[in-house]
Amino acid sequence: MTLKSLDELVQSDRVHRSVYTDDRIFDLEMDEMFEKAWVYCGHESQVKEPGDYYTLRIGRQPMVMVRDKSRAIHVLYNRCPHRGVELCGNQSGNTGNAFVCSYHAWSFNLDGKVRAIPLMKGYDGTAFAKSDYSSNMVAAEQVDSYRGFVFAKLSKGGPSLLDFLGEARVAFDDMCDRSPVGEVEVVPVCHRVVQHSNWKFFMENQLDALHPSVTHQSTGVSARKVESRLKATQGSAPLHYHYLSTFASSFDQWDSVQTVNFPHGHGILKAYMGLRPTDPDTVEYETIMKKAYGEEKAEEYLSRSIHHVLIYPYLSVQSPLQQLRCLRPLAANKTLSEIWHFRLKGAPEAIYRRSLWYYNLVNSPATMINADDLENWTKGQWGLESKGGEWVSFHRNHGGDTLKDGVLYSNNGTSEVVMRNQFDAWKSYMQDSFYAIK
Ligand code: FES
Ligand SMILES: [Fe+2]
Repeated sequence: MTLKSLDELVQSDRVHRSVYTDDRIFDLEMDEMFEKAWVYCGHESQVKEPGDYYTLRIGRQPMVMVRDKSRAIHVLYNRCPHRGVELCGNQSGNTGNAFVCSYHAWSFNLDGKVRAIPLMKGYDGTAFAKSDYSSNMVAAEQVDSYRGFVFAKLSKGGPSLLDFLGEARVAFDDMCDRSPVGEVEVVPVCHRVVQHSNWKFFMENQLDALHPSVTHQSTGVSARKVESRLKATQGSAPLHYHYLSTFASSFDQWDSVQTVNFPHGHGILKAYMGLRPTDPDTVEYETIMKKAYGEEKAEEYLSRSIHHVLIYPYLSVQSPLQQLRCLRPLAANKTLSEIWHFRLKGAPEAIYRRSLWYYNLVNSPATMINADDLENWTKGQWGLESKGGEWVSFHRNHGGDTLKDGVLYSNNGTSEVVMRNQFDAWKSYMQDSFYAIK
């Protein structure tokens, strides 16, 4: 197939199915988006001690995030400069003072600089010099972090991390500010799920307020029945029933939840769950927060209206419940997702338990919620690979959103402005090189 022009493929209210299915477009997304923009690597607490490392993919590139002896964090290509072997074969671990290649024992300091090469005399009289930069592991062009969340960029120049995040940096502020000491720590258990669908399905779904009461109806309705029964018989029900029962809110309720859509494709789905009950655990926690920050600040931190923040094109952060999901696309029809959750430092254990309940009940691969979504995305991928139609519709409330200072506010929670805004960003990433693949 000859690809249509970018403007033909991505229109203001519909997009062509090939942007979800064409391998050439996937490769270009890796070149122009994932291997050029700031990409999330992990949290600093994933590499707590010198020598701790964590491996990840940035686009198609195998990378390793590592902490050195001076406690600085580096993000390096996980590739031996000798003959290319990946230096870290495990997902994470501690490599001691150096990376040592399993093939011929070249070794590297934790900043990637070559440390030792066996039988150096074998290079006498050759063009090879140990001092040459090419004997070092290659580092990401830029590495930066915001409130403990580490990002790297494989290209030079471009916006700073803060400029890239823009207003969406509230994802990390909201998560950290909920700790009385302003910090979170990763829980070192990560669910990894391979989704058999294009990465864009996940990103669109996160702020899609039309789908929950349909897709998650059976879970939401069942949870509501039990929640009501417990309230009637015992006077109250644990908060985690509410996590599930809100999925079965009415269309009108969902339509009243606003989305806020920022430049670069980032966005927020505002809060729809009440997370401030008056049980003793919550009261104790709020008292600790007020002591730490004062009445006014604590109130500001506890009452931000956020359910999800999206950092486009790969991150979904549910800051009030300390959840973070990160996409590592593998192919046009295959996406790895990492599902993490965090502990609020200094907060009572009961507050961590809430986060764990949400992690297990909503985001884990075994849950009744995530499984529903995964099924939709797989079936969506199959449908878009078929000849049953060429277009994906994003017409809902087109023209009905409010634009103010470069930010698009939905007037209806179910407006497909979320997807339109993401594709605006997608186009601006892709436009420079798109024509090269025609
Ligand atoms: S490939 Fe790594 S030392 Fe030879
Ligand atoms: Fe869902």
